[in-house]
Amino acid sequence: MNHPIRWGILGTGIIARQFADALHHVPDAHLQAVASRQQATALAFGRDFAVPTCHGSYAALAADPDIDVIYIATPHPLHADNVRLCLQAGKPVLCEKPFTMHAGQARSVVALAREQQLFLMEAMWSRFLPGIVEAKRLVDSGVIGRAQHVQADFGYYAEVGPKHRLLDPALGGGALLDLGIYPLSMAAFFLGPVASAHAIAELGATGVDEQTAFTLRHAEGGLSSCFCSFRVTTPRELVISGPLGSVRVAQPFSQARQITIALRDGDVQTLTMPLTGNGYAHEILEVGRCLRAGLQESPVMPLDQTVALLDSLDQMRSQIGLRYPADNQ
Ligand SMILES: NC(=O)c1ccc[n+]([C@@H]2O[C@H](COP(=O)([O-])OP(=O)(O)OC[C@H]3O[C@@H](n4cnc5c(N)ncnc54)[C@H](OP(=O)(O)O)[C@@H]3O)[C@@H](O)[C@H]2O)c1
Repeated sequence: MNHPIRWGILGTGIIARQFADALHHVPDAHLQAVASRQQATALAFGRDFAVPTCHGSYAALAADPDIDVIYIATPHPLHADNVRLCLQAGKPVLCEKPFTMHAGQARSVVALAREQQLFLMEAMWSRFLPGIVEAKRLVDSGVIGRAQHVQADFGYYAEVGPKHRLLDPALGGGALLDLGIYPLSMAAFFLGPVASAHAIAELGATGVDEQTAFTLRHAEGGLSSCFCSFRVTTPRELVISGPLGSVRVAQPFSQARQITIALRDGDVQTLTMPLTGNGYAHEILEVGRCLRAGLQESPVMPLDQTVALLDSLDQMRSQIGLRYPADNQ
């Protein structure tokens, strides 16, 4: 490719708009096309973000020959079908989190990407934030000794009605899939594969979990304590602890601007990390790097890990009695 990577965005909701904004901060990326189920919606989005091509169907975007990679920004129950549509049309894909509704769907789309030899990645953007990259470097350098505990919370008060996607089972509502995936993914990033997960939850009137607390046992040793909620606004922190001290990241799932290293000997240091635009630029850079290097997956967010994390979510869902119409697909 001797031109900036040409992106297509599938879906025109809240996160699609943030992603479009982020693309303008990446020199090697160009927002070439957008697709909506309705032409008028695609055109309105196109006007707001100066997008050259506005498609009135997702199939038209998948078939567009001027697109190098497609970002999928629809509600989670649509992800598996949308990923398949794009891969079958020969397009690499970055798909929003949670990657699919359950591990079975994830295995099927990962198999398709491997068969087609196309790039595919879950858009777990926080792994690419400079603050998280630095926290990982610090922990891997041994500054706190062997990390053995991760604590992570992601809760905010969601002022939405029962038909909103966050609470509607048909749209994959619930805190665990929408927010819990972040602490879960981050715990596995720092402590490795999850051997077992134990969850307790409070389900709301629509039948989805409004808050869930879970603990993890990691296969290579270590435990994690995680919490997610639509009912309460939590501090939103990530703390990785080892025998020599802890590394704490403030707002790890959105900005990760501040890291505090507190050591057993009393030494405390605080670092301020950079952030490009609204933060999504960093995962966009990673996709560009992988595509340019001819990689079919990112070593930072590998597909087997995405599938394994969905296995953990499935395990926790069965413990808390969280079922979705999409479970039969
Ligand atoms: N990475 C992050 O920070 C982050 C933040 C928020 C959300 N997300 C993830 O991104 C996905 C979308 O979230 P969002 O908050 O952007 O949702 P949203 O505002 O409801 O937008 C979803 C878009 O998907 C399309 N869509 C296709 N079928 C749909 C259906 N049956 N019902 C509703 N919309 C449908 C619509 O676009 P058209 O009408 O144009 O087709 C809609 O605008 C979710 O999987 C969520 O977990 C990620």
